[in-house]
Amino acid sequence: MIKIENLSHQIGGKPILSGINADIPRAGITALIGPNGAGKSTLLSLIARLERIQLGTVHVDDLQIGQCSDRELAQRLSILPQMPDQPLRLTVRELVNFGRHPYHAGRPSAADHAKVKEAIEVLGIEDLADRSLETLSGGQRQRAQIAMIFAQDTTYMLLDEPLNNLDLAGSRTLMRILRRVSDDHGKTIVIVVHDINIASRYADRVVAMKGGRIARQGSPIEVIDAALIRDVFETDAELIEIDGGRIVLS
Ligand SMILES: Nc1ncnc2c1ncn2[C@@H]1O[C@H](COP(=O)(O)OP(=O)(O)OP(=O)(O)O)[C@@H](O)[C@H]1O
Ligand SMILES: [Mg+2]
Repeated sequence: MIKIENLSHQIGGKPILSGINADIPRAGITALIGPNGAGKSTLLSLIARLERIQLGTVHVDDLQIGQCSDRELAQRLSILPQMPDQPLRLTVRELVNFGRHPYHAGRPSAADHAKVKEAIEVLGIEDLADRSLETLSGGQRQRAQIAMIFAQDTTYMLLDEPLNNLDLAGSRTLMRILRRVSDDHGKTIVIVVHDINIASRYADRVVAMKGGRIARQGSPIEVIDAALIRDVFETDAELIEIDGGRIVLS
């Protein structure tokens, strides 16, 4: 479980996160939703130790962020930032290889190579494996980045807006892949999405943020309703129930 307790964060004296308490259970997909500037990326950065925790604690199972080594954490939790560095000269396979770095000191074993191959297959990018990243479309690059994260083989995968750049079919395909990665490979996935209907349909849990605070958390049906859309996104919406879930009509 990722346990976040009394987490607050300021930048230049301005509060960015205030008193966040949340439990993200092991296994399944948790969608993090909320308007631009709500603090979603900041929260993921603190969990993944891309930024130092100022106040409060985050535990990932038995590891306390800030107290464990980088290597220990990198074998437990991976992150795809919202704007990852893109070393464009690499091929897809070379990029995916980077995911194995926490496990070897530059000398990959047969097991490392097997994991890279598996990651490329799971993400369905075999045909792109030897292409240079600079020749790929935004959506194809996105999948290559996620294959790298998958190769890192961590229990927890944090993905900040992985559906960016993806068209309708691309988003659905990726969400189905992530569903399989979670169900068949036992991964806990935390995903930032802007499309509420994607959260409603594919996530097991939803955490809604606004203004650096958690507005609501629970199952999609507990969290997503007209009051949430009004209070968190400040817009009116009509919702319909379908297949036991709630869909926002836009
Ligand atoms: N380095 C920084 N300096 C100043 N303010 C920052 C910095 N990083 C983030 N912020 C501010 O913190 C707030 C939360 O930003 P964050 O990126 O976490 O939001 P978000 O929920 O991920 O938004 P989005 O949906 O647009 O990605 C915003 O008001 C942002 O302007
Ligand atoms: Mg963000």
